Parts: sequence; C-alpha cells; structure tokens
Amino acid sequence: MKNLDKTNPLEKISQSLKNTSQMAKNFSSLLKLNDVVTLYGPLGSGKTFFVKAIAKSFGAKNVSSPSFVILNEYKTKIPIYHFDFYRLKNEEEIANIGFCDFLNQRGIFFIEWPEMSEKMLPKNHYKIFFEILNENSRKITIKHN
Ligand SMILES: Nc1ncnc2c1ncn2[C@@H]1O[C@H](COP(=O)(O)OP(=O)(O)OP(=O)(O)O)[C@@H](O)[C@H]1O
Ligand SMILES: [Mg+2]
Repeated sequence: MKNLDKTNPLEKISQSLKNTSQMAKNFSSLLKLNDVVTLYGPLGSGKTFFVKAIAKSFGAKNVSSPSFVILNEYKTKIPIYHFDFYRLKNEEEIANIGFCDFLNQRGIFFIEWPEMSEKMLPKNHYKIFFEILNENSRKITIKHN
C-alpha cells in the first residue's frame, strides 16, 4: 500500500469480513507512531470492525471490548487509542475528556465520528470513508492529507 495521498486515494470494494480484515492489515503496515486516522461512514458501515482488525494485526488481545464506549485502548507494542465520539454533543465535551493530551502521548489514534474533533487534529492524518453497498459489501476509501 504505497503512494497514498490526497490526490491518490486508495479505493477498494470489500465483499467480506475477510477482505476488510486483509485491507486493515495492509493499511496497518503504513502506520507510524503518533499517526491519527479518522473514520467516516454510517452506522454499521464497518469502522469499528476495521479498527479492531488493525489492533489484531498489531497483536492486541482485548479486541472483544465493547464498541460503544468513548475510548477503547488496545495494548500492543504501540498503544492504540480508539475513540468514538458518536455520543458526544460538542467540541467542549471532547476537550473535557482530555483528547488533546491523549494525542500527545505515544500511540496511534483512531477516531469514529470525528467531525467535532477536526480542529484538534494534526493537519496530516489518514481519513477512511466507509460506504454500505449491500449486506456484505463495503466501499472503503483511504486518503492521506
Ligand atoms: N465487508 C464487510 N466489512 C466490514 N463489516 C462488514 C462487512 N460485511 C458485513 N459487515 C458487518 O457490518 C457491521 C459493521 O459494524 P461496525 O460496528 O464495524 O460499524 P460501525 O461503522 O463502527 O458503526 P457505528 O457507527 O455504529 O459505530 C458488522 O456487523 C459486520 O459484521
Ligand atoms: Mg463503531
């Protein structure tokens, strides 16, 4: 997975969980310490599944943790912080959980429903867009900007 940038997004159709897991694994090989990845797409489009697959490929063991909490932390050689801001109401609530301090820690950061946090994110980060095509198929687009 190379040459990924704003003008050169990666676009793939995944037809199965296995496809998506493989794609997550490939993408994870690009990730470096303190990278930030935002994930966009409707409910049930595969954002959480994708992050958990990445955590597994990094060797995380606690990936069965619930997917509806604001923060899941996966302990691997690099700590993985998986945020989900779906239930937060505004930027202030995001600031109040200490989000900016988290981003300064040693780790890789994933954010579902990231819209309200965008001003706090580093300029360079990955954005992944999920579209539901049918029950088992998802269109997954990865951009770097
Ligand atoms: N090809 C596929 N890739 C990923 N998930 C798939 C695929 N086909 C079916 N699914 C199913 O879609 C669902 C995705 O759920 P997931 O919790 O990852 O969604 P989400 O985008 O995180 O939703 P939410 O916004 O509610 O957090 C799972 O039930 C998964 O089994
Ligand atoms: Mg989710």
